Amino acid sequence: MNQRFDGKVVVVTGGGRGIGRAVAAGFLKEGATVILAERQQETALATAGELSMLGLVHGRVVDIADERQVSELADWLRSEFGAIHGLINNAGFGISGSIDTLTMEQWDTVMNTNLRGAFLTSQRLTPLLEKGAPASIIHIASTRAVMSEPDTFPYSASKGGLRALTHSMAVSLGPRGIRVNSISPGWIHTGEPEILRSIDHSQHPVGRVGNPDDIAEACLFLASDKAGFITGTDLTVDGGMTVKMIYAD
Ligand SMILES: NC(=O)c1ccc[n+]([C@@H]2O[C@H](COP(=O)([O-])OP(=O)(O)OC[C@H]3O[C@@H](n4cnc5c(N)ncnc54)[C@H](O)[C@@H]3O)[C@@H](O)[C@H]2O)c1
Repeated sequence: MNQRFDGKVVVVTGGGRGIGRAVAAGFLKEGATVILAERQQETALATAGELSMLGLVHGRVVDIADERQVSELADWLRSEFGAIHGLINNAGFGISGSIDTLTMEQWDTVMNTNLRGAFLTSQRLTPLLEKGAPASIIHIASTRAVMSEPDTFPYSASKGGLRALTHSMAVSLGPRGIRVNSISPGWIHTGEPEILRSIDHSQHPVGRVGNPDDIAEACLFLASDKAGFITGTDLTVDGGMTVKMIYAD
């Protein structure tokens, strides 16, 4: 039976665990060859081993904040595949700190992965995506692009930046056959389900906290031919939390 991504090559940054791992598994189940570009060597190799029962998967140790390592990934992809069809810029994290204590080193560390790393990876892989066109880039942003808890400055700024980068790249890369979209997850629980309380679920309009497969499904749709007229947009996947009006009783 034909699958949606038969013969396609998809790179997932930060694919070693959490959302990235689920996204990688989703593409593998749909026939793609998947490259996990993950900075933790142990995680990259262990996850690639575990997912190999689903299809062809390569674990590559890459820190997307490092220009040389990203260029080496592009070189390896060129010699191994010649062209690729999808890039999921998923690697990211936050560092919290008050306005009085946050250091510029902490600011830079978050930005260098979440925003600069996503651009750097997109830039170095664009020639390969162009060869694989029609192709697609998806940035994993966050609902924190538009709302915040206190003291999350670089994380929120990086995710807002990713959403701006999405429309900027969409208009630039459209003529080269590459669509660019972002996904803004809300609360996606990547740990053991039993630690969640009933209020965690019930506060969501859909009645539950999100799981990594919710984001994988959104990626599969946006990367597919069915989304061929969709570029430059953000898809919020948050169970309705960002549209819920909240006033204290
Ligand atoms: N989990 C959520 O609720 C949630 C909500 C909104 C957005 N997101 C975003 O989704 C993405 C994945 O989140 P998660 O919860 O699965 O995180 P996670 O911490 O479980 O996994 C992130 C993975 O990325 C890797 N990584 C981090 N920096 C890297 C770098 N410089 N180069 C290569 N790999 C790197 C880590 O080693 C890890 O394996 C992140 O961008 C995060 O900001 C998550």
